[in-house]
Amino acid sequence: MLSHLLHLAGISSTVLEARSRAYCEARVRAGVLEHTSVELLRCAGLGGRLDREGLRHDGIELGLDGERHRIPFHELTGKHVTVYGQQEVVKDLIARRLADGADLRFECGAVSLQDLDGSRPWMRVQHDGGADEIRCDYIAGCDGFHGISRAAIPAGVLTIHERIYPLAWLGILAEAAPTRAELLYMHHRRGFALYSMRSPRITRLYLQCRPGEDIAEWSDDRIWTELQARLSCTDGWRPTEGRILQKGITGMRSFVAEPLQWGRLLLAGDAAHIVPPAGAKGMNLALADVHYLAEALRRFYHGGDGEGLKRYSPACLRRVWKAQHFAWWMTSLLHRFEAAPAFDQKRQRAELEYVMSSRPAATALAENYVGLPLEAL
Ligand code: DHB
Repeated sequence: MLSHLLHLAGISSTVLEARSRAYCEARVRAGVLEHTSVELLRCAGLGGRLDREGLRHDGIELGLDGERHRIPFHELTGKHVTVYGQQEVVKDLIARRLADGADLRFECGAVSLQDLDGSRPWMRVQHDGGADEIRCDYIAGCDGFHGISRAAIPAGVLTIHERIYPLAWLGILAEAAPTRAELLYMHHRRGFALYSMRSPRITRLYLQCRPGEDIAEWSDDRIWTELQARLSCTDGWRPTEGRILQKGITGMRSFVAEPLQWGRLLLAGDAAHIVPPAGAKGMNLALADVHYLAEALRRFYHGGDGEGLKRYSPACLRRVWKAQHFAWWMTSLLHRFEAAPAFDQKRQRAELEYVMSSRPAATALAENYVGLPLEAL
């Protein structure tokens, strides 16, 4: 997305990717685009397939032990979200970048970053058995939580804020037609479960489990039994089962490294921050970061002013911390915390009942879920 936005501003870039194109396009990740993200993609000319195939959701449902309550986003905020898989966004971006003649290199070997604190940083890249050197003005570290960019910053520069939760999600993709129009986030005494979808034929479901659990211990039967136990509703609705196409377990953490810049290296997305998944914010924050970064670089090249670049990290962090709060809050509200004292379990239930019964409380959830507005850089 950053490379595409830079291209629209007449700025050239090289994209290095460790994996193959097929791997990137098949990798199942998040699926909810904020109103703000859809606007960014549309304004960048990437709304075509998104507008045809994306599923418009005007609300979500919250569940408490089988009783459902709808949070009507559109009625409360005038906005909605769009369900469109991250890998679909990635496919659209790769196709568009290649059609525009981008220097997009898949299956790169080891990459090292050099002279980041000088005015002409460069990268050494192992590729096709040889090594290339790429010289540039700026390097954007968009290489995820486990990437090399953040690690290339000397010790003591970044302040790290981290919280690890005693929770994980087991996620599946199932060949079953969704039978609910909207997502259902269910708090249940057996643990949290989420009913989501990807298309008119595919459901996406998640179960709270313990971090470090082995997926091999979760047979398809066990997964469906647990999903049925947690998601079945008192009005008789239960999830439709189907062939499980993909399954995996993801641990949960909140993480922020600040600032997002050191010398000529600018971090974006998961390279700088991770949110737990319950607020559906990860992909959306990454899109907002690169929107700010493209704007900062556009001003640098076309206005000759480095002010935008100075504002990049603070602008991202203001948004990131609001999303951190929202993702932490959704996580705390919806999961079962086995070790929590009875007081906290009662308090949690009261809070959920409050959100399900108060219009102002539901509006606060809705406003954050559909995406807070972007600020001017
Ligand atoms: C999905 C993922 C989320 O983290 C979430 O909060 C809602 C939906 C999904 O993958 O569909």
